[in-house]
Parts: sequence; structure tokens; C-alpha cells
Amino acid sequence: MSFDVEKIRADFPALRQMVHGKPLVYLDSAATALKPQAVIDAVVSVYAQDCANVHRGVHTLSQRATARYEASREKVRGFLNAASADEIVFTRGTTESINMVAQSWARDRLGPGDEVVLTGLEHHSNIVPWQLVAQATGAKLTVVPLDARGDVGLDAIGRALEGGRVKLVAMSHVSNALGTILPVEAVIERAHAAGARVLLDGAQAAPHLPVDVRALGVDFYALSGHKLYGPTGVGVLYAPAERLAEMGPYQGGGDMIREVTFEASTYADPPALLEAGTPNIAGVIGLGAAIDYVEAIGREALHAHERALLAYGTEALSTIEGLTLVGTAERKVGVLSFVMEGAHPHDIGTLLDADGVAVRTGHHCAQPVMQRYEIPATARASFGMYNTQADLDALTASLRKVREIFS
Ligand SMILES: Cc1ncc(COP(=O)(O)O)c(C=O)c1O
Repeated sequence: MSFDVEKIRADFPALRQMVHGKPLVYLDSAATALKPQAVIDAVVSVYAQDCANVHRGVHTLSQRATARYEASREKVRGFLNAASADEIVFTRGTTESINMVAQSWARDRLGPGDEVVLTGLEHHSNIVPWQLVAQATGAKLTVVPLDARGDVGLDAIGRALEGGRVKLVAMSHVSNALGTILPVEAVIERAHAAGARVLLDGAQAAPHLPVDVRALGVDFYALSGHKLYGPTGVGVLYAPAERLAEMGPYQGGGDMIREVTFEASTYADPPALLEAGTPNIAGVIGLGAAIDYVEAIGREALHAHERALLAYGTEALSTIEGLTLVGTAERKVGVLSFVMEGAHPHDIGTLLDADGVAVRTGHHCAQPVMQRYEIPATARASFGMYNTQADLDALTASLRKVREIFS
């Protein structure tokens, strides 16, 4: 299918609205992506027709809900090129996926003196879970610093892996704050050679890049449905069978057991082991619809569209006096993070909103990135498949007005 942005835009009902009397220009897809009608319809159809619990009913509605829920697991498997659908665990999102690895895999494997390597680019959800585990086990966190462009060099990673005590490298595939695409293939190779496992936070990669977990050879891959044009409250943890076999229960409850007595319980195999309780059935089915939608367009086509927009937007913003882009790595997805002389990012965001332009302002849940650049916050325009050059023209025009006010 050829990439037709106007046709794509017509599929996103949220784009058909005015904000403060101006057509919405949505440039906040890194926070959450808008949803195509196909995803909305899939969620509605679960509640309207197949409203039943999964895995526990003999009646028709339950069987239909279960079949659609498990079909989504197969869609995620295909999307990530995992070997088996049993390697796909549904979670609440990237945050829960990372906490699951921290508590159900790492906690039992780390001891005093062991190391977990992070990078200076991480989202709080890939920092705090490791601090909690480090506090509980006596393990140490080692942070690989960012260079001036917002990238992480392989030499710095190599140095962090020296010493033979690294059990896990936990890092972003793509940075949410700056858009940097990290050199994960080489990191995985080096980490494995050093005897360490690798978790990739794929929250910002899955919506923009083709991801092949088998080609990567990654040990854990986390993503969120809502950034991938799917519903909120659903995400994925991928791990190959041998890693999942090393994981204990995360939460106890229904669906994760084999047999329960008051004396003791035995557990189901993964992925059920890690999916205690009634899951987000409509969310999982909606995520399946989102994957169908993205795959029909093609991730290569999507990435090419966003790359062209990134080049156009980078050029346009660089013509605005007093504006500095933060994060200028060679390999980036469609994220433009910036500061403007004399204007606080929150004021920039408020003035842009008055023109119908939605951007995110703040630390983007990545305070160490802000500390690295010694700034409190940035304004961030982030792209989705529905964005156009006209959106970036609107952003640029609105920013020129902001500049006039603050200069
Ligand atoms: C890189 C990255 N990691 C993790 C997360 C957390 O995702 P969620 O809030 O969906 O669990 C986000 C969300 O902004 C993110 O951008």
C-alpha cells in the first residue's frame, strides 16, 4: 500500500476538531498517539458484542472473546517476529513490563556487587524499577553518559560492561525526550559477549521502526499499546521462552495457577503465569486492531514518512532565532525537543495551544536528560503517521509569534 497521508488522516476522528477555533495540529504522539477508527471500532465491538471474560467460559461470548484475545497475541508475535505467541505477555504498558522483569526476573538474580547498566537517556520507568531492585538486593546501577548530541557511544557502553559484574543492560531503543535511536544491535552483541542480558524499552521504537526481536536477539522487549495507535492500559513484554522460564510469578490470582489449596499453589506456564486476574480484554483486542492498521501501511513506509518530516521540521525550526534544538543525534525518530531564549517551555506550550498546536512541555519523565543539559524542561513536538509538512508549518508560524512576544 502506498503512503497516502490524507487517507490516513481521514481514519483518525480526533483530527476532525477545532481547538480554540483552529484546526487541531497534533504533535504529541510520543506522549500518546491518536487512535484510528478501526481501533475504536474494535474496542466498541468487544463491549457491544463479545462482552465476556476470557479463558473461563464455555459459552459463546466467552469463546469469542478468548479467540479474539489470543488472536491479538499472535498479531503481536508477528509484529515483533517472536518465535512463539507464548513469548508474548500482555501487561498494562511499558512501565508494568519493566517492573515485571525487575521483580520477577532480576530480583532473584542480583546480589551485592552485581551491576545493572542504564543510559543517561532513560525514562523514569526504566530507572525507578532498577533503583527499587538495587535497594532490595545490594546491586549497583551504572549509568552510561550521554554525549552532547544526545547519543550514547558504544565505547562508553563497552567501558560500563568491563569488570564482569554486569547482569543486565536496561536501555531505551529510542529516547522519548530527544528521539535518539540507540545502537541497540551492537549493544546486545557486546552485552551478551560480557555475559549480561539486555532489556530494551521499546515504548518509542515500536510505533516508528520495524522491530525484529529474533534478529536483535534481545532478552526482554517492552512496549505500550497507546503509543502504537492502540488503547491505553495495555502493553507487551516479550521474552524468549528460555528467559520466561526463569521468571517467577509477578502477581498472584486467577488465571496464573494450575492448582490452589490453602497449603500451597502450583502455577501455570508463561504467559499465563504473568497475567494474573482479568486482563484488559478490550485493550488487547484494540491493540491487535492497531497492529493490523500499522502493518497495512508498513513500518518502512511509516518510518520514511516520519524521517522526511523530521528533516523538514529540523530545517524549519533552525530558522527561528533564539531557538535551540536539544538532541541532534545522527539517528532519530520524529521528535523535535527545543528551548527558546527567554521563554519557559510551559509558556511556549500554552501559546502554541492557543493556535491549536499540541506539543508536550516539561521533563518528559526523563529528568536526568534535563540535568545533563542543565535545563528544567523542553518543549517537544513529536510526530505520528498522520502529521504533514503543513503541521510543521503551523508549528513554525506559531513559534515565530512566541519569539516575538518573548524577544
Ligand atoms: C521511552 C519510554 N519508556 C517508557 C514509557 C512508559 O510508558 P507507559 O506510561 O505507557 O507505561 C514511556 C512513556 O512515555 C516512554 O516514552
